[in-house]
Amino acid sequence: MADYDYDLLVIGAGPGGYVAAIRAAQLGLKTACAEGRETLGGTCLNVGCIPSKALLHASELFEEAHSGALAKFGVNIAGATLDLSAMHGEKAKAVKELTGGIEFLFKKNKVDWLKGYARFTAADTVEVAGRSVRARNIVIATGSSVTPLPGVTIDNEVVIDSTGALALPRVPEHLVVIGGGVIGLELGSVWRRLGARVTVVEYLDQILPGFDGEIRKESAKIFKKQGFEFRTGTKVTGVAVDGGRATVTVEPAAGGAAETIAADAVLVAIGRKPNTDGLGLEAAGLTTNARGQIEIDHEFRTAVPGIRAIGDVVPGPMLAHKAEDEGIAVAEYVAGQTGIINHDVIPSVVYTHPEIAGVGLTEEQARERGEVKVGKFPFAGNSRAKTNRDTDGFVKVVADARTDRVLGVHIISSLAGTMIAQAAQAMEFGATSEDIAYTCHAHPTHAEALKEAAMAVTGKPIHI
Ligand code: FAD
Ligand code: NAI
Repeated sequence: MADYDYDLLVIGAGPGGYVAAIRAAQLGLKTACAEGRETLGGTCLNVGCIPSKALLHASELFEEAHSGALAKFGVNIAGATLDLSAMHGEKAKAVKELTGGIEFLFKKNKVDWLKGYARFTAADTVEVAGRSVRARNIVIATGSSVTPLPGVTIDNEVVIDSTGALALPRVPEHLVVIGGGVIGLELGSVWRRLGARVTVVEYLDQILPGFDGEIRKESAKIFKKQGFEFRTGTKVTGVAVDGGRATVTVEPAAGGAAETIAADAVLVAIGRKPNTDGLGLEAAGLTTNARGQIEIDHEFRTAVPGIRAIGDVVPGPMLAHKAEDEGIAVAEYVAGQTGIINHDVIPSVVYTHPEIAGVGLTEEQARERGEVKVGKFPFAGNSRAKTNRDTDGFVKVVADARTDRVLGVHIISSLAGTMIAQAAQAMEFGATSEDIAYTCHAHPTHAEALKEAAMAVTGKPIHI
């Protein structure tokens, strides 16, 4: 490797990049990872998955204590109050411990952290913090950032993005969320639980695009019961800020009369876009597609030999676990092995209460491809959910009508995010609904609802 500094240079230390770098080093490659942030871990650990889940957990505890919901269990907590700065403090600790953990893993595995933003100067060379670094292989894992809404300026005081919504210093009285997707519902839940009135303005007719139709309908019902207000089929045409308050102008998506909504915070959550600005792709001979993504083949190779790309910057769902698994697979390809990831079986979870999770095809997608059978089981028939007095939601199993092979599983439940792993594993093993139905599930557990939904595919569940 005479004139190469590294066998592999990874650009970006998010879940895609840091995992790729560690796996490559484990496989014996001399590896560096360039990261411009102060801390490792990317969007996910710094301003994404981790701080949002910390606030979701803490705000759920607050709501339970404050709302009197525990009284029916004989737990009387009078006068529970909110200390928002303590809540932010605990979140910051989780972020610090986890980002510090990646730095430890880099040292342990001898991955060099090149501190700075990398820019291509040639197909095998980047400049980082004034230093030119040449690598035999380069993996682009630069992630994504918030999609701006034309005409709406994010000041991160009144008009905020997800990063601002993770750090609000006080609970807004009225939070308007633009976008009824994952971020809108998760961060909307946090501030609703802490006392805000939350209105979600969604362009489409329903929230949570991409999820199974019935799941979308049922979750909207549950969120409305919790106090969310939804303005679906509605578009925002402008946001004016004056004296710390916002006026949001909306009109029907199909066109019609405009009206205004007053708010003291507006969260813009209409999606994320790949990060390629300033990366010098042209110097490497690379371009992006119409959506700003870097196109790759099944071995993550871009159009330029020696350069691969993974994670949010390439097509596919923008999820941390997808980026991580691509990180492992790309390192294995670079090392001359075969990387394995099944893009048809990537679970997706919304960490609200209840959680919403899905893997594989939605019922609508499956029906477009052929004949299917569907089994459903409500948590109202699940003994553990009943015991916990927490029966919202159901499990739906979609199977091929001819082969019985499971094509998709969709769940609304307080434990949906954990339960979906079993469904994903069953699908990886090519399970039929009968395989799940004849697997012994411990009693009393929420997982029994998956077994009963599988029983409902070709026969009848017992408990409903
Ligand atoms: P990123 O995590 O975005 O990391 C890319 C890194 O590259 C960044 O640190 C950036 O600074 C760095 N970088 C960019 N350009 C350069 C350059 N030129 N040189 C050097 N470094 C550079 N996903 C889930 O699966 N579960 C969740 O619960 C979840 N919650 C989320 C909550 C929020 C609020 C947000 C915003 C996202 C959430 N996501 C979640 C999505 C998840 O964060 C992303 O899918 C994931 O981080 C993508 O990983 P990545 O490695 O591709 O990119
Ligand atoms: P999203 O794509 O999930 O939702 C955006 C929503 O905004 C959609 O419903 C869309 O129809 C709507 N929208 C778009 N333009 C609009 C407009 N002009 N007016 C009103 N509504 C509009 O994007 P979101 O919530 O910003 O999250 C970005 C990504 O981050 C997610 O897609 C996901 O990949 C990732 N993420 C994952 C999480 C998880 O796995 N739990 C949590 C948070 C984010």
